[in-house]
Amino acid sequence: MAKVRESFGSSMAAVMAMAGSAIGLGNIWRFPYMVGQNGGAAFIIVYLLSAFFLSLPILLSETIIGRRTHAGTFGAMERLAPGTKWKWLGFLTIISPLIILSYYSVVGGWSIEYLIKAAGSGFGEDVPSLFGEFIVKPWAPLICHTLFLLLTAGVVSAGVKSGIERFNRISLPLLFVLIIVIMVYALTLPGSGEGVRYLLKPDFSKITPSVVASAMGQSFFSLSLGVGTILTYSSYMKKSANIFTSGVGTAFFDLLFALLAGFAIMPAVFAAGIEPGAGPGLIFETLPYIFAKMGAVAPWLSRGVSVLFFLTIVIAALTSSISMCEVGVAYLVDEKKMSRAKSSALIFGGCWLLGALCSLSFGPLSGVHLLGRTIFDFCDALTSNYLMTFGSLLFVLFVGWKMPRAAVWDEFTNGGTLSGNRRIFGVVWFLIRYVAPLVILTIFLTNLLA
Ligand code: PHE
Repeated sequence: MAKVRESFGSSMAAVMAMAGSAIGLGNIWRFPYMVGQNGGAAFIIVYLLSAFFLSLPILLSETIIGRRTHAGTFGAMERLAPGTKWKWLGFLTIISPLIILSYYSVVGGWSIEYLIKAAGSGFGEDVPSLFGEFIVKPWAPLICHTLFLLLTAGVVSAGVKSGIERFNRISLPLLFVLIIVIMVYALTLPGSGEGVRYLLKPDFSKITPSVVASAMGQSFFSLSLGVGTILTYSSYMKKSANIFTSGVGTAFFDLLFALLAGFAIMPAVFAAGIEPGAGPGLIFETLPYIFAKMGAVAPWLSRGVSVLFFLTIVIAALTSSISMCEVGVAYLVDEKKMSRAKSSALIFGGCWLLGALCSLSFGPLSGVHLLGRTIFDFCDALTSNYLMTFGSLLFVLFVGWKMPRAAVWDEFTNGGTLSGNRRIFGVVWFLIRYVAPLVILTIFLTNLLA
C-alpha cells in the first residue's frame, strides 16, 4: 500500500509555517532600513500595495499549484503539465532554494555565534572590528554554519507534522513575543522618538520608479516567492483550507513582523546616536555596539536584551531555512522514494558544501570571484536578483496561461463552495494573468540590464 502523504494539521498550522518561511533576516536587516531611507510612511504604503497587488497573486499562484497537486515543485509540474518543458521550472525551483539555504545558513551560523557571545561574555565597544575578524576566520564560522544547518535538517527530518509544524507552532508566537518585548524596551530609551520619526515621516518625493522596484523586490524576498517554498508548504494544505485567507494571513504576519522589527531596531539605533544602515552590518555591528554602550549603564538589562535579540534572529532564520530545506526533501521523498532522514542528510551534505565555500569566501577564498563577486555575494545576487523573479514570473504564467481557468477557479473557491472567494476570483485572475507577469518581467529585465 502506498504511504499516505503527510499534511499540516489545520489551516492555522499551514499559515504559521508559511509565515515562518516569510519572516526571516529580510524583515530584520533590510526592511527597517529601506523604510527609513525611502520615504518612511510613503514607502510603507508603496510596500503594502506591492505586497497585496503583486506579491499576493504570486503567492496564491504557488499555493494553487501546490494544493491542487499535493506534490512538491517537480512533481507538481509533472502532474499538471506532463512531458513538457515546464519540468525545468520544477527543477529550477528545487535548486534555487538550496542555493539560498547554503548562504543563508552561513548568516544563521553567525547569529548562533553572536547568541552565544551575548549570553557569555557580552559585547565590548570594539564589536565592529570583532565582526570583521570573526567572519574571515576559517573554522569558527564553519562550525556555526554546520550547527545551524544541522538544526534545520534535524527539524525537517522529523517530519511535516512532528517537525516543521511543531517547530513553527512554538516559534512563530515566540518570535512575536520576543520582538514586542525588544520594541517596548527600545521605545523607552531616551532619544528613541527620532527613530520612530525616521520610520514614519512620509516623504512622497522619495518614491521614484527604482524605489518602487526595490519595494517589490523586497516583498518577493520577504514572502519567500518564486523558489517553490510556498508551493511545497501549500502541498501539505488540506483541501478544506481557504487559499485566499491563508495567503492574506501570511502576508499580514510578514508585514506586521517587519514593522515591529523596525520599531524595535531604529529607535535603539537613534537613541545611541548612530547612523542607521542595512544588512549584516546592522545586526552584527551596530546593534551589538548599542548593547555594549547600554551595558555601561545597565549591564544586566543590556545583556538580557541582547540575548533576546540574537535568539529572535536565530529562530527567525531557522523558520525560513527549514522551508528552503523542505523543498529539496519533498522532492527526494515524493519522487525518489527516499526516506525523510536520508533525504534530509543528502540536502544537508550538498548545502553544507556550498555553504562552506560561501563561508570561506570571506576569508581564505576571498580571492575567488565569479562574475566579479565573491562566492557568497554571487549566490546572493543570483538568487535574489534573478532566480526569485524568474521563478515568480514562470509560476504566474503557469497558473494564468497554462492551467485551465476552470481548474484555477475550482482550487481557489474549493469547488465553488467559498462564496467570498467566488466573488473576488475575477480580480485575482486578472492580477495573475496580466498584471503580475508584466510587472515581474519589467523588474526582471531591469535587474538584468542594471
Ligand atoms: N523570506 C525569508 C526572509 O525574509 C527568506 C526566504 C527566501 C525564505 C526564500 C525562503 C525562501 O528572510
